[in-house]
Amino acid sequence: MMRASVLPVLLVTSLTLCFAEGFQTQWPVPYKRFDFRPKANPYCQAKYTFCPDGFDNGSIPVMKDDDVIEVFRLQAPVWEFKYGGLLGYFKIMHDAIGFRSSISGKNYTAEWYELFQLGNCTFPHLRPDMDEPFWCNQGAACFYEGIDDEHWKSNGTLVPVARISGMMFNQMSVWLKEDNNTGIYYETWTVQQPTSINYTMWFESYDCSKFVLRTYQRLWELGATFYKGIQTNYTRIFLYSEEPTYLGNTSSIFGPHGNKSLAETIRKFYMPFTPPHSFKELFVSFLDIFDQVVLHKSFYLFYNFEYWYLPMKFPYIKLTYEEIPLPPQKPL
Ligand SMILES: *[C@@H]1O[C@H](CO)[C@@H](O)[C@H](O)[C@H]1NC(C)=O
Ligand SMILES: *[C@@H]1O[C@H](CO)[C@@H](O)[C@H](O)[C@H]1NC(C)=O
Ligand SMILES: *[C@@H]1O[C@H](CO)[C@@H](O)[C@H](O)[C@H]1NC(C)=O
Ligand SMILES: *[C@@H]1O[C@H](CO)[C@@H](O)[C@H](O)[C@H]1NC(C)=O
Ligand SMILES: *[C@@H]1O[C@H](CO)[C@@H](O)[C@H](O)[C@H]1NC(C)=O
Ligand SMILES: *[C@@H]1O[C@H](CO)[C@@H](O)[C@H](O)[C@H]1NC(C)=O
Ligand SMILES: *[C@@H]1O[C@H](CO)[C@@H](O)[C@H](O)[C@H]1NC(C)=O
Ligand SMILES: *[C@@H]1O[C@H](CO)[C@@H](O)[C@H](O)[C@H]1NC(C)=O
Ligand SMILES: *[C@@H]1O[C@H](CO)[C@@H](O)[C@H](O)[C@H]1NC(C)=O
Repeated sequence: MMRASVLPVLLVTSLTLCFAEGFQTQWPVPYKRFDFRPKANPYCQAKYTFCPDGFDNGSIPVMKDDDVIEVFRLQAPVWEFKYGGLLGYFKIMHDAIGFRSSISGKNYTAEWYELFQLGNCTFPHLRPDMDEPFWCNQGAACFYEGIDDEHWKSNGTLVPVARISGMMFNQMSVWLKEDNNTGIYYETWTVQQPTSINYTMWFESYDCSKFVLRTYQRLWELGATFYKGIQTNYTRIFLYSEEPTYLGNTSSIFGPHGNKSLAETIRKFYMPFTPPHSFKELFVSFLDIFDQVVLHKSFYLFYNFEYWYLPMKFPYIKLTYEEIPLPPQKPL
């Protein structure tokens, strides 16, 4: 979705990572924000239209300040529309947020997901006409009218988690649009040190659940009170590694003055995993990547449009469905 040649214009200049001697890398590496969202590269073609029922102009309706809005936690198995509850069984869940206005009775869904599906956000394309792996990894927010109760309830969750004012909702909308324009790419993996008491988190994922968590946090900062006693678990896909090494960006590795042997190694690494088209293929890719990672104890991570080497350690890869609690009750 993004060519190396257009990247320099898009990158936020306030990147705070320092790799020069004497500077410590900040862990986890902060997810990079962009000045604006670029148009997706025409090479990336969505199999399913992104946000088909969203408001045309991406705008979010304005609520009356004194409206009372119920906020819902929504969760359902990924790709349920195609594969029934199978992924629910493996607890690969998709998260979203619902809102219901008491004045109008209308309800709305907000979610954040891949423009070109999970496979394209997890694995790049290796194009014969290009040295560098090519990523269709944009993700974005989708806001639309309606909550499909049946979809969320039947194999997932639909529960109220908070009540907010219309004013808070409107303030959240402003934030949401900004968040949508500056956080542009999807990241599947969470990378941390092998489980121990004091582990370091190297990279955080950036996916649908992170959007929900950010929105809860924002609402909490705006003064929302969350209900008590609701367990909120999320799916995360972990990679376990010792301290990662920075390798470079697309142009520094794959460009004319790049590192040819490193470029070849990275291409080889991704060779077996060009984005799958079906769930079956994606599942097989996950198994393949597990084999490769266990065998070679290496992983080449793409994060912030840069490559990192991960020295992988047992248990290598893990899928979890664990609790991340709702924001705390405000002290009175
Ligand atoms: C890639 O890295 C090189 C070397 O660190 C740097 O000069 C260049 O500005 C970077 N390019 C992008 C698009 O970030
Ligand atoms: C992944 O990207 C490729 C290349 O653009 C595209 O052909 C394919 O439809 C995408 N997959 C999905 C599921 O959208
Ligand atoms: C966006 O579209 C909605 C309906 O689709 C309309 O009510 C609203 O006025 C539009 N907003 C802008 C800024 O064009
Ligand atoms: C977020 O950005 C995408 C891609 O540009 C757009 O389709 C969508 O309407 C935006 N969502 C919101 C809530 O503004
Ligand atoms: C829930 O899961 C069952 C069993 O896998 C499936 O038959 C049903 O279609 C799912 N419900 C929805 C709304 O997809
Ligand atoms: C959302 O609105 C639809 C249409 O009125 C209704 O069927 C559904 O039950 C509502 N869901 C919630 C959670 O309010
Ligand atoms: C873990 O970190 C805490 C706080 O920094 C420290 O008190 C504790 O001793 C550490 N535990 C181990 C096993 O290193
Ligand atoms: C190329 O990358 C490899 C792996 O990071 C490194 O060991 C080697 O020194 C690099 N070569 C050059 C010429 O920078
Ligand atoms: C939710 O997470 C908690 C704590 O992380 C865990 O004990 C519990 O088993 C999880 N629930 C499910 C349904 O997996």
